[in-house]
Amino acid sequence: MDSSWLDFLGLLVRWLHVIAGIAWIGSSFYFIWLDRSLEPPTPDSDAARKGVGGELWAVHGGGFYNPQKYLVAPAALPEKLHWFKWEAYTTWLSGSALLILVYWLKAGTMMVDQNVAVISAGQAVAIGAGGLVLSWIVYDLLCRSPLGRNDAALGVVVFGLLVLLAWGLTHWLGGRAAYIETGACIGTIMAANVFFVIIPGQKRMVAAMRAGRAPNPLDGARGKQRSVHNNYFTLPVVFTMISNHYSATYSHPYNWAVLALIGAAAVLIRHFFNLRHKGIYAWQYPAAGAVLLGFTGWWTMPHPVPLPPVHGEVNFARVRGIIGQRCVTCHSPAPTFAGITAPPAGVLLHTPENILNNSQRLYQQVVVTRIMPLGNATQITEEERAVIAAWIKAGAKPD
Ligand code: HEC
Repeated sequence: MDSSWLDFLGLLVRWLHVIAGIAWIGSSFYFIWLDRSLEPPTPDSDAARKGVGGELWAVHGGGFYNPQKYLVAPAALPEKLHWFKWEAYTTWLSGSALLILVYWLKAGTMMVDQNVAVISAGQAVAIGAGGLVLSWIVYDLLCRSPLGRNDAALGVVVFGLLVLLAWGLTHWLGGRAAYIETGACIGTIMAANVFFVIIPGQKRMVAAMRAGRAPNPLDGARGKQRSVHNNYFTLPVVFTMISNHYSATYSHPYNWAVLALIGAAAVLIRHFFNLRHKGIYAWQYPAAGAVLLGFTGWWTMPHPVPLPPVHGEVNFARVRGIIGQRCVTCHSPAPTFAGITAPPAGVLLHTPENILNNSQRLYQQVVVTRIMPLGNATQITEEERAVIAAWIKAGAKPD
C-alpha cells in the first residue's frame, strides 16, 4: 500500500483510539465516583426493602437519575444487563494498531536510537512486543500470588516493577519509543484486566445467579481489585500517550526516573480524587504530587551541553551545507530517508528561506534539546552543532 495511505489510516486509527479511550476512562471515572458517592437508603424505604445498599440522585442533560447499588444482588436479574467492555477492547485494539503503524513498521527511525543501544529494527520490535506480553504475565501472577491479598504492598511492588520496565526500555530504545512502549504495557495490563479477569468473573457471577446459586465472592473481590488498579493506571498512561510532544521528558539522561516521578505524582493525585468522592479531603496527596511535578519541571529544563570550539569561519553557506547533509533527507517535500514519507512536523529545510524562517526552532531542536537529527540518524558532529549555535547567536544572517 502507498505509504501516504498508511499515514491517513494512522489518522483514522488515532482518532478512534482517542475517542474510545475517552469513553473507557470516562466510564471508569464515572463508576468510581458513583461507588464512592452512594448513600444508604432510608431504613424501611422501598429501596432498603429491595436490598439496595446505596443510591444517589443526580441531574444531567435535563433529566433526573437515581442509580441504586444492591448490597449483594437483586432478587432476580433483569433480562437486559448493560456491560462495559467494548470501550476497553476498542481502546486496546486501536492503540495496538497505532503502535504498529507509527512505531513497529518504522522501527528503524522511530524506535532505534544508536546512542542508546545498537540494535536492529527487528530487535526493537521484539523488545516492544515482548514487553507487552511479559508485563501482563508478571503482573497477573503477582495479583494471584499471596502478595495479591495485601493491596498496599502489591501496589508498591507493581509500581517498582513498572519503573524497572521503564528503565529497561529506555536502555534499549529511543526515549520517545520507550515512553510509548511503557504506556502500551500498562494499557495492555488494563485491557487484559477487563478481558481476562473482570468480565469473565462477572459472567460467572451472572450465570450463578441465573441458576439460583450464590455467586463466588472471590470473583467480585478480584474484579474489584483489578478495577481499582485500572483506575490508578489511567493518569500515568494518559501522560505516556501525550509524552511524545514533550521531548524534555523522554530525552532526559534519566528519562526513566522522570517517567517514574510523573507516574507517582499522577497516582497521588488520583488517590486524592478517589478519597474526595467519599468526602475526605486529604490534601497531603496532591501536595506531594505537586512537589514531585515541580521538581520534575525543574529537572527537565534543558541544561546546555558544552559544545566544542568552532574552527574556521561561521557563515550561512556553512550552515546550509550542514543542514543539507544532516537534515534534508527527512525535512524536504519528498524525503529520501527510509520510513519518512512526508516532511516531519511539516518542517521543511531544503531551501535557504526555509532555513531562515525556521532558525529559532532549528536552534531549539539541534542545540537546546538535541532531539534533531532524530536519533542522530544522520550522524551530526558536535562541532556542526556548535557551528549552528554560533550562527544563530550571531543573528542567523543570510550571508
Ligand atoms: C531521520 C529523520 C530526521 C532527520 C535526519 C531530522 N529530523 Fe527533524 N524531525 C523528524 C521527525 C520525525 C520530527 C517530528 C517529531 C515530532 O513529531 O515530535 C522532526 C521534527 C523537527 C522539527 C520540529 C520540532 C518542533 O516540535 O518544533 C524541527 C525544527 C526539526 N525536526 C529540525 C531538524 C533539523 C535542524 C535537523 C538536522 C540537524 C533534523 N530535524 C533532522 C525527523 C528528522
